[in-house]
Amino acid sequence: MAKAAPRTVLITGCSSGIGLCMAVQLARDPGRRFHVIATMRDLRKKDKLEAAAGDTLNQTLTIQRLDVCSDESVAECVNSLPEKQLDVLVNNAGVGLIGPLETISIDTMKHIFETNFFGAIRMIKAVLPAMKQRQKGHIVVISSVMGLQGIPFNDVYAASKFAIEGFCESLAVQLLKFNIFISLVEPGPINTEFEMKLMEEVAKSQFPGVDATTVHSFKDIYLPASHEIFTTMGQSPEFVAKAVVNIIAKERPPFRYQTNPLYTPLVALKYADTSGELSVSAYYNLLFRFTRLFYISTSFLKCITCRCFRRQITPT
Ligand SMILES: NC(=O)c1ccc[n+]([C@@H]2O[C@H](COP(=O)([O-])OP(=O)(O)OC[C@H]3O[C@@H](n4cnc5c(N)ncnc54)[C@H](OP(=O)(O)O)[C@@H]3O)[C@@H](O)[C@H]2O)c1
Repeated sequence: MAKAAPRTVLITGCSSGIGLCMAVQLARDPGRRFHVIATMRDLRKKDKLEAAAGDTLNQTLTIQRLDVCSDESVAECVNSLPEKQLDVLVNNAGVGLIGPLETISIDTMKHIFETNFFGAIRMIKAVLPAMKQRQKGHIVVISSVMGLQGIPFNDVYAASKFAIEGFCESLAVQLLKFNIFISLVEPGPINTEFEMKLMEEVAKSQFPGVDATTVHSFKDIYLPASHEIFTTMGQSPEFVAKAVVNIIAKERPPFRYQTNPLYTPLVALKYADTSGELSVSAYYNLLFRFTRLFYISTSFLKCITCRCFRRQITPT
């Protein structure tokens, strides 16, 4: 039987993190099932990806410039594809933001939405007509558990991910008519150098004009707790990338996929009590009232997820 042609996968934001790992894992697929168009907004950053791609470069992986915030850049990249055709679009490009609301300008907030929300939509609009015509396609969006559950001091970032979740929930239903699937991938914290540096940088800020209670909550409670969560529950970009590769390879991909099962109970709280009281008070109590309990829980998690306790279970 003739071998199926490789599927073309375009990924945004491949200069680092999950995007880079996904591009390399797909390009190195032993069955050579994929041709990857790994894109980034600044080609001066391509060295890391080129090094990781090795001999797949210009074979199963090509690098192109693409800024998801620019109509021209998106059009240029999509128009360069043969018949503007893609099998899989992975909207990965994203920017984070943490801090007290009073210190964040409306322009900064718009920038977060421009990338995390409108950037993904700009891409989807550009590839959808050709996918509809072919009655075939898969759109993956790297969302976050913060697209399902807001976290203190991540207000604007969470809002941008909630927005893309709502958008995709609506669109997914219409697109099934065209045999086009949408998958929202919702990672929890991912341990990257970038994330740790961001937290260290923000910890040094003084936050002039912000009330003392909020500054104390952010610097002395939220940041240490967040650091603890990243080191306890954090996954590697390689692990998350592998989960996405598995989803892309599926004939019938899931609409939602949370990569981190440790996070699922926290997200489930809001569905357990539709008044919202349970999740709001649980987060408040854990963070501000029973902080010791929070650290005991994360130590317990560290303990039960430690390698020493992982036993291989073999069928008898
Ligand atoms: N890290 C986490 O804990 C975490 C958790 C859940 C979900 N996520 C999501 O996972 C995705 C990837 O993040 P990551 O953790 O891998 O972080 P990362 O290493 O910072 O990667 C983000 C990528 O997006 C690119 N990007 C930013 N603005 C862009 C634009 N306008 N056009 C094109 N590319 C742009 C960045 O390019 P530059 O190098 O040019 O800035 C970078 O390549 C994001 O959507 C993020 O929201 C991350």
